[in-house]
Amino acid sequence: MDAKIVATRPFDGQRPGTSGLRKKVKVFRQPGYLENFVQAIFDTRADLEGGMLVLGGDGRYYNRQAIQVILRMAAANGVSEVLVGRGGILSTPATSCIIRKYRTQGGIILSASHNPGGPDEDFGIKFNTPNGGPAPETVTEAIYARTGEIDNYRTLEAADLDLDRLGEVKLGDTRVKIIDPVADYADLMESLFDFTAMRRLFDSGAFKMRFDAMHAVTGPYAREILENRIGATPGTVMNGEPLEDFGKGHPDPNLAHAKELVAMTKGENGLDFAAASDGDGDRNMVLGKDFFVTPSDSLAVLAANAQHAPGYKDGIAGIARSMPTSQAADRVAEALGIPCFETPTGWKFFGNLLDAGRITLCGEESFGTGSDHVREKDGLWAVLFWLNLLAARKQSVAEIVKEHWQGFGRNYYTRHDYEAVEPQAAGDLMDHLHRLLPDLPGTKFGNYQVEYADDFAYTDPIDGSRSEGQGVRVGFQGGSRIIYRLSGTGTEGATLRVYLEFFEADAARHDQETQEAMRPLILIARELAQIETRTGRTEPNVIT
Ligand code: G1P
Ligand code: ZN
Repeated sequence: MDAKIVATRPFDGQRPGTSGLRKKVKVFRQPGYLENFVQAIFDTRADLEGGMLVLGGDGRYYNRQAIQVILRMAAANGVSEVLVGRGGILSTPATSCIIRKYRTQGGIILSASHNPGGPDEDFGIKFNTPNGGPAPETVTEAIYARTGEIDNYRTLEAADLDLDRLGEVKLGDTRVKIIDPVADYADLMESLFDFTAMRRLFDSGAFKMRFDAMHAVTGPYAREILENRIGATPGTVMNGEPLEDFGKGHPDPNLAHAKELVAMTKGENGLDFAAASDGDGDRNMVLGKDFFVTPSDSLAVLAANAQHAPGYKDGIAGIARSMPTSQAADRVAEALGIPCFETPTGWKFFGNLLDAGRITLCGEESFGTGSDHVREKDGLWAVLFWLNLLAARKQSVAEIVKEHWQGFGRNYYTRHDYEAVEPQAAGDLMDHLHRLLPDLPGTKFGNYQVEYADDFAYTDPIDGSRSEGQGVRVGFQGGSRIIYRLSGTGTEGATLRVYLEFFEADAARHDQETQEAMRPLILIARELAQIETRTGRTEPNVIT
């Protein structure tokens, strides 16, 4: 087999966003487009030559083709061994697990996370570093810079490999190992959680659960772990077959996109426990009977109960949450006497804190929860943690969360998204807020008095790197907050995210409907940012 150098049309440079490079499939299919980005990875990650690489994706349309392209390029660039998930499948947390377990020089994940898949939909690629985590900005910037420079890429003249047969094959001098995508990850989960206690829960016959894999990558993982290893009734996993177009769904586990599952938790015969994960398996949604656990509360509850899971029985070192995530976790950290870090939005900001052992658990309001077991958020991990809790405490989801509120107070929480806003209008709205900031402290809006107002900036306590302009924070006396941010992952126009948090200490007022309880704060948020006049929107398009 001959290595071949292909001249490629130079691209303007492909700047990866917070979660790698994400574009329509059509864009990725342009000759040389994917190759340009992949060559930039090999050029900037020198230790991949002679090293090991993990490769897999969420199974969406174009996953298999992209894997063949990358395998040939890995061989031509001198990678000594590539570990590929069978069928080209690897969830994002499983990739992180495998990079760490086999001490590889990194991994390439093919995914556009929760975005729809199909010929007219999204595709994505990202590089994870040897710690198993998403590449930090220095790395992505170097890759980006390189994409603008190169005018050729290296590949091999070789036929496609059979990705569906486990085992080892040679591609040029490179060993390609097709591995079971689930086994290493399932072993890790078994080492962290009490599978025996969970099995008893299912053996009782009275416990009803569904896990919705949304036709995305977690189906095979959930079946192996929940049904085979723990012994949940077959059928507990629904939509468990990964499909290239996710069954034309939107594989994002939230109240808007997992409607069918949510409906199954309602009423007399509602499920006791329901959960879902997204396209690439890093997000999670947790529901009880007639009960939705906000991701912010989930992080706080897991932190307060960590000792129930064998993997965390000795306690946790600290907690981190993204800035817009509610402060419920802060209250737990305070009670435990451990630090709580507030980081900018995006999982990569947790990496240094996890590597340094400063935190054990971390989470984002956007349905992301995780720990130091890998360096990505982990959907199934969160679900298993909850299951472990239900088994250990022998209480319902609602009982556990309500008791938590009694002890710590309730941080009512909601996020209002205004999608596909005209970018200029969105930018102007943020400018308007920035101009208001200095005058806000002390201002009263009804019962709410502003305590502080700023544009969030973060200095990484480990490497000292500084991130500015991370969102506008308006904090009120008593702990309520309004936060405004523009999304970094939206693909159409600008997305304005308004995050609202309302703290209620009084247990007698913990049973209000969320949007109802938060109405005054919602109206303040709209007025302050002049949302309607500036965007023409009277209501958000997505409320979570
Ligand atoms: C969104 C979420 C953020 C998450 C990211 C990647 O980013 O808000 O918490 O880390 O997706 O999953 P955003 O579109 O808000 O920039
Ligand atoms: Zn995801």
